[in-house]
Amino acid sequence: MKKLFSSLICLILLSVFSSDLCLAADWRAGKETYRTVCSNCHKTRGEAERLSLNSRTRDEWSAFFAQAPVPVHQKVWDKLNKEDVGSLEQYFRKYAKDTKELLG
Ligand code: HEC
Repeated sequence: MKKLFSSLICLILLSVFSSDLCLAADWRAGKETYRTVCSNCHKTRGEAERLSLNSRTRDEWSAFFAQAPVPVHQKVWDKLNKEDVGSLEQYFRKYAKDTKELLG
């Protein structure tokens, strides 16, 4: 219910001010997707190396999410919708090399 409410507020804000606030909320969904999907492989002693979000710039991350998935990711990406990928992009950009915000 709370989520529905904040989504509604976001929708209103977005239509009135095209607010960044809504994008700011998005990164949390991305973090959750990262935790539940990506980290199945990208973890210590996992199938893939742990990812350092601060190893690339925001633009580099955006380019990564804009391109077609690499073959090893095809099955993973098949289960994600556009919104999931968008939220992941927000999350990765938040902690990118050239993001000034403090971690937290
Ligand atoms: C099925 C296992 C698996 C899952 C799940 C997975 N990956 Fe990967 N990923 C790999 C492998 C294997 C590589 C290549 C080798 C490596 O980096 O260890 C890779 C490489 C990468 C790279 C670096 C390669 C490049 O093209 O620059 C990024 C970034 C990446 N993954 C992001 C993600 C994200 C984001 C998710 C979640 C949506 C994800 N991965 C989920 C297996 C996985």
